[in-house]
Amino acid sequence: MNLFPMITTTIFTLIMLCSMSVVVHVQGKQPYVGLATTACGQTGNSNSMRGYTCNGVNPSCQAYLTFRAQPLYNTVPSISALLGSDSSQLSVANSVSEDGTFETNKLVIVPINCSCSGNNNNQYYQFNTSYEVERGDSYFVIANNTFEGLSTCQALQDQNNIPEGDLMPGNELIVPLRCACPSKNQTEQGVKYLLSYLVASNHIVWLIGERFGVSSETIVEANTLSSQQPIIHPFTTLLVPLQDEPSSNQTSEPSPPPSTPPPPPLSSSSGRSSKTWVYAVVGVVGAIALISSVLCAIVFRTRYLKGGNKRKDDSLIVSDSFVAVAIEKPQEKKLEEEESENLAEIISGISESFKVYRYEELQSATNGFSPSCCIKGSVYRGFINGDLAAIKKIDGDVSKEIELLSKVNHSNVIRLSGVCFNGGYWYLVYEYAANGYLSDWINIKGKFLSWTQRIQIALDVATGLDYLHSFTSPPHVHKDLKSGNILLDSDFRAKISNFRLARSVEREGSEGDQYVMTRHIVGTRGYMAPEYLENGLVSTKLDVYAFGVLMLEMLTGKDVADVYAEGNIANLFDVLSAVLDEEGEHLRLSEFMDPSLKGNYPMELAVFVARMIETCIKKDPASRPDMHEIVSSLSKALDSSLRWETSMERKFRFYKGFLN
Ligand SMILES: *[C@@H]1O[C@H](CO)[C@@H](O)[C@H](O)[C@H]1NC(C)=O
Ligand SMILES: *[C@@H]1O[C@H](CO)[C@@H](O)[C@H](O)[C@H]1NC(C)=O
Ligand SMILES: *[C@@H]1O[C@H](CO)[C@@H](O)[C@H](O)[C@H]1NC(C)=O
Ligand SMILES: *[C@@H]1O[C@H](CO)[C@@H](O)[C@H](O)[C@H]1NC(C)=O
Ligand SMILES: *[C@@H]1O[C@H](CO)[C@@H](O)[C@H](O)[C@H]1NC(C)=O
Repeated sequence: MNLFPMITTTIFTLIMLCSMSVVVHVQGKQPYVGLATTACGQTGNSNSMRGYTCNGVNPSCQAYLTFRAQPLYNTVPSISALLGSDSSQLSVANSVSEDGTFETNKLVIVPINCSCSGNNNNQYYQFNTSYEVERGDSYFVIANNTFEGLSTCQALQDQNNIPEGDLMPGNELIVPLRCACPSKNQTEQGVKYLLSYLVASNHIVWLIGERFGVSSETIVEANTLSSQQPIIHPFTTLLVPLQDEPSSNQTSEPSPPPSTPPPPPLSSSSGRSSKTWVYAVVGVVGAIALISSVLCAIVFRTRYLKGGNKRKDDSLIVSDSFVAVAIEKPQEKKLEEEESENLAEIISGISESFKVYRYEELQSATNGFSPSCCIKGSVYRGFINGDLAAIKKIDGDVSKEIELLSKVNHSNVIRLSGVCFNGGYWYLVYEYAANGYLSDWINIKGKFLSWTQRIQIALDVATGLDYLHSFTSPPHVHKDLKSGNILLDSDFRAKISNFRLARSVEREGSEGDQYVMTRHIVGTRGYMAPEYLENGLVSTKLDVYAFGVLMLEMLTGKDVADVYAEGNIANLFDVLSAVLDEEGEHLRLSEFMDPSLKGNYPMELAVFVARMIETCIKKDPASRPDMHEIVSSLSKALDSSLRWETSMERKFRFYKGFLN
């Protein structure tokens, strides 16, 4: 009986159901409204579109709204009249005079007093302003077009006793504007104000964070967004937690990407100060991140809408953002193509860490992506400038992987040498690993790794992970470690690959590991640690667990799913304790070891490694060792293995001599 898939599916369904309804309010964060703002007729269960819940420390506070100047509302007096803000405070906040005018689309900071109101059951943070209905207005037009998303049709309907159909020019409406006060956790982290940022098209969380000096993780958390795919939409509010008052120098829009070839090389900017140069680079990097993420989001959506295009890998993906994505109509396909033309040029303009390839170069390197060049799935082998390279075609967001790999330089982490974007797909060009995937060496009959090779590979993987956990800043978790993501070079040295799920975990204070919560459970069956599956906890100990599973596969020569199935167990830990706790532990262990080793391994070391795996896959993440300890254990194991190998060779030579 193969119970494993059934059990995991059930667990996942439960997690999905729970994560959608419960998690949001418990943590004192505010759910992002998303596309719900357009669903005016509906009064669904989610109240998030009526306002931010009153879960802050104080019932009222100083807060900030943002507004983009439009022809009708483009002066200090007209904007403060529309939004009910104090015009002198508004002029100070934006460093303009009290009758100052803003350029169209200029972001204006609007200081307001935010407070909690409503009846006992439905309390929302809001700031009331009043508005006189004009010809052609509907609740949606008022909320979206006039107030640019600072209010929602649901909130307007809720707080004005006029049915939609009875709206008449001249009606006086109360317009609740979306603001919020910091929660306890935010206050403890030094957050003083929340700014209701109006998302514009092409904006991404990271860039908004850059502008206000706030990490994208903080914004993702404050708005309960998915950390893997933080998708945001124009004409919605995104809360930005601020430690200081926002300043007018944060309101200028990042300059749009050039439509003609990239800006002149740096030498021509010699007259500028070095600081301006830094801002310019930040701007361009931002623009790239922005475009690529928008492109990816669009590509992603359209793929999902095609429906038939099911994911082929064995990763399990559970995410509410996918649900939201699937109901959206495809748009802006043209924009995608136009912008993709610029993308390569822009990237090449600044990038020093990787090369940008033309699609034609990759085509000729791979005989037009012919099946004969296919390594596996969407990975192709190609000759580029006389060197072999692996070219991976990717459908989806690669920004994390590119960002991480551009910072990392380690012999046990695969090297990204170039990128290409074409026809809605990304192509990433990696160093070539001659011996392919570790998973093939575990699963395919006729391929065989010696004991010492296995220990060397394990040590390589552990060293690469230790580097990610302890020597990148901020520390990173790979999150999808498995034999299918480990590559072997011509000397059977291992390189960790596929960083699409990797994420950073900020380490605070000096003690212990930092945990991050996520609602987005992604990974591969059998490799995911229990605390992640059950509670969405992310820490470096996830990789330690997966590393234990990987070593188990190398020891037994079996896929982890088969280990579960054959052992007929629910918890991997039980397999090892059954093997190791017996009196004759050697005997049981030798039955457990990969038969293709034919007993050619030092039994003491096999026990040592099995004990190590046992600690890696402990249920309690805190009792698992960290990668640093594993590296030092495995270094010892490798030394002993090499000595054992030498002694075996000596014996072999001895017998051989004897026979001759
Ligand atoms: C907010 O409150 C302060 C003092 O409580 C007051 O001076 C200020 O005018 C208020 N601002 C608005 C926009 O009502
Ligand atoms: C805003 O308007 C609503 C609806 O009239 C009212 O219940 C609430 O008390 C007002 N809030 C504030 C802060 O004035
Ligand atoms: C919301 O308002 C903007 C600005 O007027 C407009 O361009 C956009 O189409 C509106 N959104 C919808 C869904 O109508
Ligand atoms: C918020 O704070 C509480 C208690 O201070 C803590 O238990 C909880 O984990 C915190 N949540 C987050 C997401 O930091
Ligand atoms: C923006 O203004 C604030 C205070 O007004 C100042 O501290 C900060 O250095 C300025 N930032 C830039 C990038 O000029």
